[in-house]
Amino acid sequence: MQTITQKELTLVKPDDFHLHLRDGVALSSVVNYTAAQFSRAIVMPNLKPPVVNTEMALAYRERILRCVDEKYNFEPLMTLYLTDNTSVESIKTAAESNIIKALKYYPAGATTNSDQGVTDIKKTYAALEAMMGSGLPLLVHGEVTGDDVDVFDREAVFIDKVLTPLAKDFTELKIVFEHITTRAAVDFVMESNDKVAATITPQHILLNRNDLFKGGLQPHHYCLPILKAENDRQAVLTAATSGNPKFFLGTDSAPHARNTKETSCGCAGIYSAPNALEIYAEAFDSAGQLDKLEAFASHYGADYYDLPRNTEQMTLIKKEQAIPEFLPFGDEEIVPFRAGGTCSWQLKK
Ligand code: NCD
Ligand code: ZN
Repeated sequence: MQTITQKELTLVKPDDFHLHLRDGVALSSVVNYTAAQFSRAIVMPNLKPPVVNTEMALAYRERILRCVDEKYNFEPLMTLYLTDNTSVESIKTAAESNIIKALKYYPAGATTNSDQGVTDIKKTYAALEAMMGSGLPLLVHGEVTGDDVDVFDREAVFIDKVLTPLAKDFTELKIVFEHITTRAAVDFVMESNDKVAATITPQHILLNRNDLFKGGLQPHHYCLPILKAENDRQAVLTAATSGNPKFFLGTDSAPHARNTKETSCGCAGIYSAPNALEIYAEAFDSAGQLDKLEAFASHYGADYYDLPRNTEQMTLIKKEQAIPEFLPFGDEEIVPFRAGGTCSWQLKK
């Protein structure tokens, strides 16, 4: 049970249900920020090449664990990258491993490293059938691709064209609508059965699309799905703080080196890992809903994934901290969310 005073919040150590850890030196630069705040994290498989089978995921898991500081008891929860060719056999192997917790569906071309994603969801129906049988969730990047759809409408069109038919065809399939950004997505999740849930990022409850252009083009606010209008931000914040167990924490922290974002064609992704939990705390606090943070961050996701809730506790204090302008990222630099600004909460050391 969480205890809250004006100045302190003690809660069960949370889990991050949507995280990009990358590989190599990037991995070693970022993973301990997450391990400091989260017990477990669902690790996205969009590496180059993508993590498409259990063997690759087990090897990736070992590489992650080798980078985790021994003072942390961090458990990476592995996922596979769904492709047009994912076989029923590979779903069975994944389910039996007990290490693979979900499959990630990227529409081909929708986001970073999605070129080997699914070209037509119907091509994956045999794999989805097998996932449904074994209880493995499908994690969905919910955006259509193609120049004919406005970038701000891609999530809403995805709901109509892909997700609604998919959820009808597979009523028993667990589906996590990842990083939702719109009122339409909130409504879809609330109207769906209890197999359908959603993750929510810090940026989509704190920022709207004006923040992409405030004072000039802001590459560090560029992520996919792109930030939406204020009305959508409010709907997503209300969902996150509502106490509805269908909505839980997934940062979508997506590290990219500074020089790949501050350039003429910048990468999509916001790097929130270093202060993620504190930033969520600030958002919940501003909404007057701090008492809903523990369930959102530490209970609902674990329950959805049939994982035991964590027992270790941690404490946040309401004390302003400065967020650095940049952090080391291998031999390069990375700019965290809120760089050069402040956060009104911090982890108690
Ligand atoms: C993610 C990344 O960089 O891997 N980028 C992002 O903007 N969120 C991919 C993703 O989750 O879409
Ligand atoms: Zn992501």
